[in-house]
Amino acid sequence: MAARRKVRFGIIGLGLMGREFGSAIARWCHLLFDGPVPELAGICDTNPASHAWFKENFPTIRVVTTRYEDLLASSDIEAVYCAVPHNLHRTLYVDIISAGKHLMGEKPFGIDKPANDAILAAIAANPKVFVRCSSEFPYFPAVQRIISWITAGKLGRIMEVRSGFHHSSDMDVAKPINWKRMVEVNGEYGCLGDLGIHTQHVPFRMGWIPKTVHATLSKIVTERPDGKGGMAPCRTWDNATLSCAVDHPDGYRFPLFLETKRMAPGQTNTWYLEVDGLAASVRFTTRDPKSFYYSMAGEKEQSWSRLDLGWTPAVPGITGSIFEFGFSDSLLQMWAAFLLELDKGKPPVFGCFTPEETRISHALHTAALESNRKQSVEPVKV
Ligand SMILES: NC(=O)c1ccc[n+]([C@@H]2O[C@H](COP(=O)([O-])OP(=O)(O)OC[C@H]3O[C@@H](n4cnc5c(N)ncnc54)[C@H](O)[C@@H]3O)[C@@H](O)[C@H]2O)c1
Repeated sequence: MAARRKVRFGIIGLGLMGREFGSAIARWCHLLFDGPVPELAGICDTNPASHAWFKENFPTIRVVTTRYEDLLASSDIEAVYCAVPHNLHRTLYVDIISAGKHLMGEKPFGIDKPANDAILAAIAANPKVFVRCSSEFPYFPAVQRIISWITAGKLGRIMEVRSGFHHSSDMDVAKPINWKRMVEVNGEYGCLGDLGIHTQHVPFRMGWIPKTVHATLSKIVTERPDGKGGMAPCRTWDNATLSCAVDHPDGYRFPLFLETKRMAPGQTNTWYLEVDGLAASVRFTTRDPKSFYYSMAGEKEQSWSRLDLGWTPAVPGITGSIFEFGFSDSLLQMWAAFLLELDKGKPPVFGCFTPEETRISHALHTAALESNRKQSVEPVKV
């Protein structure tokens, strides 16, 4: 077998998501394909305590630093995964791209629209740099099956699309505040910035771009324990419901409902998608991660069939198809898609969320804030 391309990565931000990428690199042998192989060459976090787990587990690391500029100055590092709080996206992403490093950024890809505009300008000025935004849920096999049914036209005329992401940990009002509930760090978008891109990846890729939006945003818990015995204001939006109108390329309009909720009783990282069509309908939820649901129309009565797909992702691996697929599998698949597209110039499997799609996302979120403020239907200016 020909030698496989090695891509040396640096990670900036070694928290929840930084560690997930580290683990994906360590499990790369899980995948059975001849695509590039990531190697962890450098790590950066302002909190030195976060370095230890990486140093213990990755002997390939050469640069360990609290200053991200050190990673960018290293000629050993070709690509960067940057998983830091939202108020840092603009400066760090622009500096990474301007340093000529490929970038997998995190959502919302800029704390607000001006930050996103600045990141997109840096990408335009550095066309050789490959940039994508992390979004892993479309890589569940059942979501891949939904996408293949849509693109094959099996659904017929699209009647309605519902896509959402629900959490419940904030239902615990005694949960101390963290940066994700602070508007200065997380951003004015609140739960939209945190979860919105996850709900938009499949609809946007299918060409379903919202024309208008009506948003209902809720701030339910207005203060939380500050972790020091007092209370701190909690000013981010907890829940958002967006009702969008989409013009289908075939010349008709249909509703797209996007829900992003931090406070949805009993839900733990529940990502779902349902697409209803005149010929067939399809749905998926991470609550039932191996199942693809479909309903064929045309009869007086309809029923939903449940098909267990097991471990059958786009990029093959060692796991038998009789086993279950999970969150860390979806991340591994997303990273394989990133590296395949970086290597080949176009995605041989479903591609990661693009910078252009982040521009649409920011246009939608900005219009949603305006809609909620005025209780109006707003145009989405893409
Ligand atoms: N794709 C997903 O499913 C998913 C899930 C959760 C979070 N995220 C996104 O990932 C990003 C990070 O979220 P997280 O949950 O990993 O946060 P986290 O708080 O767990 O980790 C962030 C890390 O960044 C470090 N940091 C802060 N300032 C820094 C700086 N100047 N230089 C280097 N490191 C710095 C912090 O010390 C911390 O370790 C956010 O954009 C978030 O929206 C994505």
